[in-house]
Parts: sequence; structure tokens; C-alpha cells
Amino acid sequence: MLNKLQEEILNLKKEKNAIILSHNYQTKEIQEIADFMGDSLELCIKASQIDDKDLVVFCGVDFMAETAFILNPDKKIVIPDTGAECPMAHMLPAPEVRKAKEKYPDAAVVLYVNTLAEAKAEADVLCTSANALKIVESLEEDTILFGPDQNLAWYVAQHTDKEIIPIPEGGHCYVHKMFTPADILFLKEEHPEAPVLVHPECNPEVQEIADQVLSTGGMLQEVAESENEEFIIATEVDMVTRLKREIPDKKTMPAFEEAICENMKLHTLEKVKNSLINEEFLVTVPEDIAAKALKSVKRMLELSK
Ligand code: 13P
Ligand code: SF4
Repeated sequence: MLNKLQEEILNLKKEKNAIILSHNYQTKEIQEIADFMGDSLELCIKASQIDDKDLVVFCGVDFMAETAFILNPDKKIVIPDTGAECPMAHMLPAPEVRKAKEKYPDAAVVLYVNTLAEAKAEADVLCTSANALKIVESLEEDTILFGPDQNLAWYVAQHTDKEIIPIPEGGHCYVHKMFTPADILFLKEEHPEAPVLVHPECNPEVQEIADQVLSTGGMLQEVAESENEEFIIATEVDMVTRLKREIPDKKTMPAFEEAICENMKLHTLEKVKNSLINEEFLVTVPEDIAAKALKSVKRMLELSK
């Protein structure tokens, strides 16, 4: 049952012809009022299909809302709290990409969507954790500059013959760095039948003990379709909230309860309500950067089909 504030949000949403997009790491209260939830790729695809809406409230981090703007420059895209930045996206400023391109002029540049728009504008194509390998394999070039997540770069390098050059050195997600093989193996001892599903932003030693390495959307699909009854989930804790809500008959356990993305959690119901009433805070990207970044976003969507 929804609370009064959630009911108010649903009414405002209708009044404003708005849509609420939410990443899988949002809290239960926000998941309950979202029109659409997904991983970064699913949110990107959804953001490319919202012609009938006037206002988009994006409950995710900065790079996700920016990507929605790049795909819809004529729409109002708002984010409930402007502090919701992905620290990893800020680890790769555009000059650093340009420097790497000068050093490796024959390499293709594949950037994770977790980048700022200015870096996206420098990429040949983007990728997410759901399609990184497919995108890399679809390119003609044998050398790939890949950033900013060095663990995702490591994952891709394990599955391709191409040379993967991570940029910048040490790009990482502080949340996924929290997982350790020791914590997971401890849980596994108590639940030997439970497959371990790990996000590719986790360290290599954690990926190495995984049964599967998946995006958050891939985890949802796996838990829904697999014959297994219990699962150990190594990604942000509210992914488990979504799994429990949508697939209650399966047991899903967080690999580490304190793996919380504080940035994602800045959004609250009060702030979502404010976003709808005052149509704030607007997310925009300078026109020249948005036009260049759109090419790399579109190429990813094309290659993901
Ligand atoms: P997904 O695309 O797998 O949801 O990952 C996004 C993200 O930011 C993970 O930390
Ligand atoms: Fe960024 Fe990590 Fe949070 Fe994902 S979980 S939004 S990569 S800080």
C-alpha cells in the first residue's frame, strides 16, 4: 500500500504528464512510485522512447540524467537532488581521453555510460555493464581505449582477444570495491546451493569466484529465469530490494549489506515531489557536447540490438 506522499506524487505525475525513471539502486519508497526501473542500458533505451511525456524525473545519478537529456534535448529532464553524482564518472575528464587518443591514434574509444557528457563526446561508442563485451567485439579496431572502470575493463579483457587499455589508471566504483571473496565465501558456506551473481565493477578476485558476472538487469533476469532457489548478490544493496519485491518466492541475499551508493540515496520522496511541482532541478548539456555525445549513445543503442 502506498503512503500519502506517494499518492500525491502519483497525482502530480498525471497532472504534469511526467514519467519517473528509476535506477535499480533506488530505495523501496522510490521503486514503488517509479514508472520504469532498470539498469543503465534499459534506462537509456527507455529514455529514447518517451516522446509522449513532457517531464522526466530521473531518480538516478548525474550521468544517467545527462544521457536522457542528450537523447531528448527538447524535454525537461529533472533530477530530485543535484548532489547525486557518480564519483566514478568524474574520474575521467575529457582532456584525459584526448591525451589517451593522441598516444594511441589507432585505438577505438569505448566509454562506459558512467562518464560525464564531455567525455562521452570524445568516445567512438559507449557501453554499459550489460553490453560491454558485445560492443567491443563489434568494432573493427583491435586496440580499445576503455574507461573509466578498470574492473569492467578487466572483465572485457578476459573475454576478448583485443588489447584493452584502461583509462584512467585506477578508475573505480567505491561501492563495488567493498566486496571481498572472504565475505562471499562465508555466505557460500551457509548457502552452498546459491549461485554468486557479481557485478563487473567488482574487483577481479571477486569476479573470479562468481558463478556469473552480470549487470543489474542481467541479475534480475537470471534470478527470475533460473531454477535455483537462492542467490548471493554482489552489487548495491537496493538491487536486492527490487529482487525481493518482484521475485518474492526466491531467496536473494546481499553479499555485503553495507554496499550502499550514498549518491543514489540522495533522492527522497519529498525531493521527487518538489521536482514534479517546481520542475527542478533541470539537467542540461551544452549543445555542441550533446550533439557529439549523441553519436556515441546512438551507436551503442544500434550495436546493442
Ligand atoms: P548497471 O547498468 O548494471 O545497473 O550498473 C550501473 C551502475 O552504476 C553500477 O554501479
Ligand atoms: Fe557510480 Fe558506483 Fe554509485 Fe554506480 S554504484 S552510481 S558506479 S558510485
